[in-house]
Amino acid sequence: MKEKNILSSAPADPYGEEGLSLLREAVREYMTEKRYLHTLGVERKAAELAARHAPEKTAKLRAAALLHDITKERSAEEQIALCARFSVPVPRDCLESPKLFHSLTASLLIPEAFPLYADPEILTAVARHTAGHPEMTLCDKILYLADWIEDTRTFPTCVKLRAWYDRRICAADTGEKREAVLEKTVLRSFDVMIREILKEKRALALITVETRNALLRECAERKNKRKIPTHGSEK
Ligand SMILES: [Fe+2]
Ligand SMILES: [Fe+2]
Repeated sequence: MKEKNILSSAPADPYGEEGLSLLREAVREYMTEKRYLHTLGVERKAAELAARHAPEKTAKLRAAALLHDITKERSAEEQIALCARFSVPVPRDCLESPKLFHSLTASLLIPEAFPLYADPEILTAVARHTAGHPEMTLCDKILYLADWIEDTRTFPTCVKLRAWYDRRICAADTGEKREAVLEKTVLRSFDVMIREILKEKRALALITVETRNALLRECAERKNKRKIPTHGSEK
Protein backbone atom coordinates (compact mmCIF):
# COMPACT_ATOMS: atom_id res chain seq x y z
CA MET A 1 0.00 0.00 0.00
CA LYS A 2 1.25 3.48 -0.91
CA GLU A 3 2.23 5.84 1.91
CA LYS A 4 0.22 9.01 1.73
CA ASN A 5 1.99 12.30 1.28
CA ILE A 6 1.46 13.73 4.72
CA LEU A 7 2.62 17.34 4.42
CA SER A 8 -0.60 19.12 5.46
CA SER A 9 -0.24 21.79 2.75
CA ALA A 10 2.20 22.51 -0.04
CA PRO A 11 4.55 25.27 1.12
CA ALA A 12 5.59 27.91 -1.41
CA ASP A 13 9.23 27.12 -0.62
CA PRO A 14 9.82 23.60 0.81
CA TYR A 15 13.21 24.75 2.11
CA GLY A 16 12.01 28.01 3.68
CA GLU A 17 11.14 28.24 7.39
CA GLU A 18 7.45 27.48 6.71
CA GLY A 19 8.28 24.42 4.59
CA LEU A 20 10.74 23.04 7.13
CA SER A 21 8.29 23.64 9.94
CA LEU A 22 5.56 21.66 8.09
CA LEU A 23 8.10 18.89 7.45
CA ARG A 24 9.06 18.90 11.14
CA GLU A 25 5.43 18.32 12.12
CA ALA A 26 4.91 15.67 9.39
CA VAL A 27 7.88 13.46 10.37
CA ARG A 28 6.67 13.42 13.97
CA GLU A 29 4.02 10.84 12.93
CA TYR A 30 6.76 8.45 11.85
CA MET A 31 8.55 8.05 15.18
CA THR A 32 8.47 7.88 18.95
CA GLU A 33 8.94 11.04 20.99
CA LYS A 34 12.51 9.99 21.90
CA ARG A 35 13.48 9.56 18.26
CA TYR A 36 11.73 12.81 17.37
CA LEU A 37 13.88 14.68 19.90
CA HIS A 38 16.96 13.01 18.41
CA THR A 39 15.76 14.02 14.91
CA LEU A 40 15.40 17.65 16.00
CA GLY A 41 18.90 17.41 17.51
CA VAL A 42 20.25 16.14 14.18
CA GLU A 43 18.53 19.03 12.39
CA ARG A 44 20.16 21.57 14.73
CA LYS A 45 23.60 19.95 14.46
CA ALA A 46 23.34 19.57 10.67
CA ALA A 47 22.50 23.29 10.44
CA GLU A 48 25.48 24.16 12.66
CA LEU A 49 27.90 21.98 10.67
CA ALA A 50 26.50 23.16 7.33
CA ALA A 51 26.87 26.83 8.34
CA ARG A 52 30.56 26.12 8.92
CA HIS A 53 31.37 23.66 6.12
CA ALA A 54 28.75 24.15 3.37
CA PRO A 55 26.53 27.19 4.04
CA GLU A 56 24.73 26.89 0.69
CA LYS A 57 23.48 23.42 1.67
CA THR A 58 22.08 24.37 5.08
CA ALA A 59 18.34 24.17 4.25
CA LYS A 60 18.76 20.95 2.28
CA LEU A 61 20.70 19.36 5.14
CA ARG A 62 18.05 20.42 7.66
CA ALA A 63 15.43 18.64 5.52
CA ALA A 64 17.67 15.54 5.17
CA ALA A 65 18.14 15.50 8.96
CA LEU A 66 14.37 15.64 9.55
CA LEU A 67 13.87 12.70 7.16
CA HIS A 68 16.87 10.52 8.01
CA ASP A 69 15.17 8.19 10.53
CA ILE A 70 11.56 8.02 9.21
CA THR A 71 11.67 4.22 8.88
CA LYS A 72 13.84 3.44 11.92
CA GLU A 73 10.86 2.29 14.01
CA ARG A 74 9.84 -0.41 11.51
CA SER A 75 10.51 -4.10 12.08
CA ALA A 76 12.81 -6.18 9.87
CA GLU A 77 9.70 -7.70 8.23
CA GLU A 78 8.34 -4.26 7.41
CA GLN A 79 11.73 -3.18 6.04
CA ILE A 80 11.79 -6.24 3.78
CA ALA A 81 8.24 -5.44 2.62
CA LEU A 82 9.30 -1.86 1.81
CA CYS A 83 12.22 -3.15 -0.29
CA ALA A 84 9.82 -5.48 -2.12
CA ARG A 85 7.32 -2.65 -2.75
CA PHE A 86 10.03 -0.54 -4.36
CA SER A 87 11.44 -3.58 -6.25
CA VAL A 88 14.82 -3.26 -4.53
CA PRO A 89 16.60 -6.54 -3.72
CA VAL A 90 17.06 -7.00 0.02
CA PRO A 91 20.78 -6.43 0.69
CA ARG A 92 22.55 -9.23 2.50
CA ASP A 93 24.27 -6.67 4.76
CA CYS A 94 20.84 -5.54 5.99
CA LEU A 95 19.74 -9.09 6.74
CA GLU A 96 22.91 -9.63 8.76
CA SER A 97 22.72 -6.18 10.43
CA PRO A 98 19.05 -5.08 10.42
CA LYS A 99 20.09 -1.63 11.79
CA LEU A 100 21.31 -0.86 8.27
CA PHE A 101 17.86 -1.29 6.69
CA HIS A 102 16.41 2.06 7.71
CA SER A 103 18.82 4.30 5.79
CA LEU A 104 17.99 2.42 2.58
CA THR A 105 14.22 2.26 3.16
CA ALA A 106 13.99 5.92 4.24
CA SER A 107 15.64 6.94 0.95
CA LEU A 108 13.13 4.74 -0.94
CA LEU A 109 10.13 6.13 0.91
CA ILE A 110 10.93 9.87 0.68
CA PRO A 111 9.95 10.28 -3.01
CA GLU A 112 6.56 8.71 -2.29
CA ALA A 113 5.70 10.19 1.12
CA PHE A 114 7.63 13.49 0.84
CA PRO A 115 7.98 14.14 -2.91
CA LEU A 116 8.89 17.81 -2.33
CA TYR A 117 12.14 16.57 -0.77
CA ALA A 118 13.06 13.90 -3.33
CA ASP A 119 16.28 15.73 -4.06
CA PRO A 120 19.25 13.55 -5.11
CA GLU A 121 21.55 15.09 -2.45
CA ILE A 122 18.98 14.45 0.29
CA LEU A 123 18.29 10.88 -0.86
CA THR A 124 22.00 10.08 -1.05
CA ALA A 125 22.83 11.58 2.35
CA VAL A 126 19.92 9.68 3.95
CA ALA A 127 20.88 6.41 2.22
CA ARG A 128 24.49 6.73 3.44
CA HIS A 129 23.91 7.90 7.00
CA THR A 130 24.38 4.53 8.70
CA ALA A 131 26.99 2.41 6.91
CA GLY A 132 28.60 5.20 4.86
CA HIS A 133 29.80 4.98 1.27
CA PRO A 134 33.32 5.03 -0.23
CA GLU A 135 32.42 8.19 -2.18
CA MET A 136 30.80 10.22 0.57
CA THR A 137 30.10 13.82 -0.46
CA LEU A 138 30.39 16.80 1.86
CA CYS A 139 26.60 16.67 2.44
CA ASP A 140 26.80 12.95 3.25
CA LYS A 141 29.59 13.58 5.77
CA ILE A 142 27.72 16.44 7.45
CA LEU A 143 24.50 14.43 7.93
CA TYR A 144 26.49 11.39 9.04
CA LEU A 145 28.42 13.35 11.65
CA ALA A 146 25.37 15.35 12.80
CA ASP A 147 23.65 12.02 13.54
CA TRP A 148 26.65 10.92 15.65
CA ILE A 149 27.31 14.05 17.67
CA GLU A 150 23.95 15.86 18.01
CA ASP A 151 23.55 17.28 21.48
CA THR A 152 20.95 14.82 22.86
CA ARG A 153 23.36 11.88 22.29
CA THR A 154 24.71 10.69 25.64
CA PHE A 155 26.58 7.48 24.67
CA PRO A 156 30.18 7.95 25.88
CA THR A 157 31.55 7.37 22.36
CA CYS A 158 29.29 10.13 20.96
CA VAL A 159 30.13 12.55 23.77
CA LYS A 160 33.86 11.91 23.23
CA LEU A 161 33.61 12.37 19.47
CA ARG A 162 31.64 15.62 19.90
CA ALA A 163 34.34 16.97 22.23
CA TRP A 164 37.07 15.76 19.82
CA TYR A 165 35.46 17.66 16.91
CA ASP A 166 34.65 20.78 18.98
CA ARG A 167 38.23 21.11 20.30
CA ARG A 168 39.80 20.83 16.86
CA ILE A 169 37.30 22.93 14.95
CA CYS A 170 37.89 25.84 17.37
CA ALA A 171 41.59 25.76 16.50
CA ALA A 172 41.04 25.47 12.71
CA ASP A 173 41.51 28.95 11.27
CA THR A 174 41.11 28.25 7.52
CA GLY A 175 38.49 26.54 5.37
CA GLU A 176 41.05 23.89 4.41
CA LYS A 177 41.81 23.10 8.05
CA ARG A 178 38.10 22.99 8.92
CA GLU A 179 37.47 20.51 6.12
CA ALA A 180 40.38 18.37 7.38
CA VAL A 181 38.86 18.36 10.89
CA LEU A 182 35.48 17.25 9.51
CA GLU A 183 37.07 14.48 7.49
CA LYS A 184 39.24 13.25 10.39
CA THR A 185 36.24 13.25 12.74
CA VAL A 186 34.18 11.17 10.31
CA LEU A 187 37.12 8.77 9.91
CA ARG A 188 37.42 8.53 13.69
CA SER A 189 33.71 7.70 13.98
CA PHE A 190 34.19 4.78 11.60
CA ASP A 191 37.17 3.53 13.64
CA VAL A 192 35.05 3.69 16.81
CA MET A 193 32.05 2.03 15.13
CA ILE A 194 34.13 -0.79 13.62
CA ARG A 195 35.81 -1.47 16.99
CA GLU A 196 32.37 -1.66 18.67
CA ILE A 197 30.97 -4.01 16.01
CA LEU A 198 33.98 -6.33 16.39
CA LYS A 199 33.73 -6.24 20.19
CA GLU A 200 30.05 -7.18 20.02
CA LYS A 201 30.84 -9.90 17.44
CA ARG A 202 28.29 -8.46 15.00
CA ALA A 203 28.49 -8.68 11.21
CA LEU A 204 30.56 -5.89 9.68
CA ALA A 205 29.21 -4.57 6.37
CA LEU A 206 31.78 -4.52 3.59
CA ILE A 207 30.71 -0.99 2.63
CA THR A 208 31.64 0.22 6.13
CA VAL A 209 35.17 -1.14 5.71
CA GLU A 210 35.40 0.36 2.20
CA THR A 211 34.19 3.73 3.50
CA ARG A 212 36.75 3.70 6.30
CA ASN A 213 39.56 2.90 3.86
CA ALA A 214 38.42 5.62 1.45
CA LEU A 215 38.37 8.18 4.30
CA LEU A 216 41.82 7.06 5.39
CA ARG A 217 43.08 7.67 1.84
CA GLU A 218 41.38 11.08 1.67
CA CYS A 219 42.98 12.15 4.95
CA ALA A 220 46.43 10.93 3.84
CA GLU A 221 46.12 12.67 0.46
CA ARG A 222 45.12 15.92 2.15
CA LYS A 223 48.12 15.67 4.49
CA ASN A 224 50.52 14.94 1.59
CA LYS A 225 49.13 17.86 -0.39
CA ARG A 226 49.88 20.17 2.53
CA LYS A 227 53.43 18.83 2.87
CA ILE A 228 54.45 18.90 -0.83
CA PRO A 229 52.15 21.45 -2.47
CA THR A 230 54.07 21.47 -5.79
CA HIS A 231 53.83 17.71 -6.41
CA GLY A 232 50.09 17.26 -5.90
CA SER A 233 48.65 14.01 -4.59
CA GLU A 234 49.90 10.62 -5.66
CA LYS A 235 47.48 8.63 -7.76
FE1 LIG B 1 19.56 6.42 11.52
FE1 LIG C 1 19.55 9.09 13.68
